Amino acid sequence: MSGISRIFVVGAGTMGHGIAEVAALRGFSVTLYDIKQEFLDGALSRIRWSLERLAEKGTIGSPDEVMSRISTTLDLESGASGADFVIEAAPERMEVKRDIFSRLDRSARPGAVLATNTSSLPITEISESVSEGRRGSVVGMHFFNPPVIMQLVEVVRGSHTSDAAVGAAYDLARALGKQPVIVSRDVPGFIVNRIMARFLNAACSLVERGIYGMEQVDAAARHSLGMPMGAFELSDYIGMDVLDDIIRAMVARGFRMRPCGLFGEARAAGRLGVKSGRGFYEHPGAKFRKPELDPSLAGAVDPVLLIAPAVNEAAYLLREGVASRDDIDKAVRLGLNYPRGIFEYADQYGPGAIASALRRLEGLLGSDEYEPDPLILEIAGRGGRFYPRGPG
Ligand code: CAA
Repeated sequence: MSGISRIFVVGAGTMGHGIAEVAALRGFSVTLYDIKQEFLDGALSRIRWSLERLAEKGTIGSPDEVMSRISTTLDLESGASGADFVIEAAPERMEVKRDIFSRLDRSARPGAVLATNTSSLPITEISESVSEGRRGSVVGMHFFNPPVIMQLVEVVRGSHTSDAAVGAAYDLARALGKQPVIVSRDVPGFIVNRIMARFLNAACSLVERGIYGMEQVDAAARHSLGMPMGAFELSDYIGMDVLDDIIRAMVARGFRMRPCGLFGEARAAGRLGVKSGRGFYEHPGAKFRKPELDPSLAGAVDPVLLIAPAVNEAAYLLREGVASRDDIDKAVRLGLNYPRGIFEYADQYGPGAIASALRRLEGLLGSDEYEPDPLILEIAGRGGRFYPRGPG
């Protein structure tokens, strides 16, 4: 794409290494930064593993050729000074992001776009750690795990973000072969993580209260709802530290949720998921192992109870004008690989059944986070649907 050839990725963890891989695959020259050599070495070996999978399938030619476009550095300032576009993918803690952005402010060339892959922290707050003249260049660019497979990028506008930075992030996402969705309001968790957090928290809370078993809810997510992963399986995949940080950051900024205790317990016990070899399931060698979930386990679970909280959040986002119905549906299809949009699920079960399920959850779990959104009640009240002319 015009004017951008060198990309600097800050943070070589789960997301950073995947973003660097995607950029190198698309012909960009990439520098990857982290604070310790062992993190950089780990990232390079994960990228090589992934490229070898792609080469085995014939999707790409030589992994070496792609790897040759990736260099690494332990020096944030020198990495930033040579870049046209920076993508920060450091841990989800505001003090970490603010420190990085203030250093980028001093070292990046004028005009460079400073994007953050944050999934839950406000772009506006992050942008306020750079000098006033640069705030317009700070934009959200939220990828999904694994970046090499997942198609969605949420491009998020903060209060100071310029049209030029939104346009540059959008164009870069396209140049990386992704499908961007613009999130026009800087709400905590944007579109996908808000919806995903509702699904994960409800599933987890039902298990915490002993209403269902873990494998039952995961089997129902996969076999009744057709999702690629169950809630506990997905939590392992994301990492309990990342998930816990995301939920805390969102709740601290007004997201109404009583977080399920099982996530925090697993984190405190060091059961972080795939990255530590064990989360809710075992992942030998810190490689994802898909749990065997017999389809018969799904029968015990009412799938509407699992999907209704996610629909409720989507209705809120639509009613508040954060994104359109079609973009919200595109976001869950491409960001979570759901087989259908969240409003398509709502219509499949019926808005009235969704509202009743939310009322049941309020009773079972005793939290007002399940209070049905006025938009669902309004549509259910007139016997309507989210797609009045049939499935999107
Ligand atoms: N690199 C290259 N290839 C990869 C890969 C990687 N990193 N990861 C998976 N693959 C390949 C596998 O090799 C496999 O290839 P074949 O089909 O040719 O064998 C293929 O992808 C499918 O993988 P698996 O068979 O291991 O497992 P799967 O069928 O379950 O697919 C998945 C894996 C694509 C990850 C799928 O499970 C999925 O879509 N899960 C949902 C993921 C999701 O929701 N991500 C978003 C998380 S939220 C987030 O990221 C935001 C945040 O801020 C936390």
